[in-house]
Amino acid sequence: KLKIVTIGGGSSYTPELVEGFIKRYAELPVTELWLVDIEEGREKLDIVGRLAQRMVEAAGLPLKVILSLDRKEALKDADFVTTQLRVGQLSARILDERIPLTHGILGQETNGAGGMFKALRTIPVIMEIVEDMKVLCPDAWLINFTNPAGMVTEAVQRYGNFSKVVGLCNVPVGMKKSMAKQLKAQEEDIAMEIVGLNHHFFMTDVFEKGQSRMKEILEGYEKLTPEDEVSMKNIMTIPWTKELVRALAAIPCPYLSYYFYPQEQLQHQLELFATHSVRAEFVKGVEDELFALYAQEELHEKPKQLEQRGGAHYSDAACSLITSIYNDKGDIQYVNTRNAGALTDFPEDTIIEVAAKITKDGPVPIPVGAIPEALKGTIHTIKSFERMTVEAAVTGNRDLAIAALTLNPLVPSGALAVQVFDELYEAHKAYLPQF
Ligand code: G6P
Ligand code: MN
Ligand code: MN
Repeated sequence: KLKIVTIGGGSSYTPELVEGFIKRYAELPVTELWLVDIEEGREKLDIVGRLAQRMVEAAGLPLKVILSLDRKEALKDADFVTTQLRVGQLSARILDERIPLTHGILGQETNGAGGMFKALRTIPVIMEIVEDMKVLCPDAWLINFTNPAGMVTEAVQRYGNFSKVVGLCNVPVGMKKSMAKQLKAQEEDIAMEIVGLNHHFFMTDVFEKGQSRMKEILEGYEKLTPEDEVSMKNIMTIPWTKELVRALAAIPCPYLSYYFYPQEQLQHQLELFATHSVRAEFVKGVEDELFALYAQEELHEKPKQLEQRGGAHYSDAACSLITSIYNDKGDIQYVNTRNAGALTDFPEDTIIEVAAKITKDGPVPIPVGAIPEALKGTIHTIKSFERMTVEAAVTGNRDLAIAALTLNPLVPSGALAVQVFDELYEAHKAYLPQF
């Protein structure tokens, strides 16, 4: 028996996950996949869940897809639990993106004020799930891709008294694909060294079959065409200056654009805002279109339209991780996990995003050493922001939350930090029982 439970099973990303399990069935013979959601998500769960069942049936596999609104029943004796929930759904994300913009500061799902409130809403729910897991499936792994994935993982590890947790993101997956393309190499021959945090890391080295090819990447950067730039569907790409890349001797992940080019990114967001189309609103349109497709009985596979979403390849990351833990593979993947000495800058128990060997006992980070001077400041700043936000999420300490927001580089004023906090709090208070 191999039981997987997906919380937030009504997500539009679920077909990707199901496709991932179908593809890997020979190595990962899942017997039961439980898709769990809450009452408000019943309709979506029903539609996407029935598509999942059709997909498995079309593949002719003895994998049972079970839809449930009863989380406790679902968690009983699970082997792996994945979380992909969104507290308050897309309407909450729209507010996270729009409210900061009304104050002239960046509005983003996982960064700045919006990112903070996503953490404040999500962490209490994840902590409840962890409490249930300790009773109902204490040996299961929690694979979290609920954003902000780094902070959620930090919360579980630091305050949940639960160590079998791994946070996942698709940004390193996308970066690796881009490296393979740029180096004209096979993706499975590529490995990277990444330094930093979720949505806040730098690639400091890249290897093909164990040989560093970073020199070519750095030298080639100046000639890179815009379509070969490492990019994400949800972030406007602005090429890095060649001076910056040369001096850093690293490739920043796309999210760092909000910190290195805050003016350009804010300007772009304000233009979208003026036309009533912040990212979350666009995503809502895509979701409606997706669910209309998912509802069609003739559909038996993941539709192409899902690729418009920033989260493409999540399933690859999640299913590969589960497969490697299950089979004790020892391959390298990019995960949010305990530092465990990989970066000498941080204590052992700090959560970082890092290349790690994936074993049956979980990820073992590959040692990196000290963070290079040029990359250090921004990583430390954001880690402090994360630690303070996580503590505020657990304790409900408003002062701490406001201090974290004031320190955040995307919030340029103390008075604004208080004002934006209070306004976002007012908008989201139904989901903020801790305050
Ligand atoms: C990237 C990030 C994900 C995030 C997604 C948003 O892929 O890694 O963590 O969820 O973008 O994409 P969306 O289509 O929802 O804007
Ligand atoms: Mn991510
Ligand atoms: Mn600030």
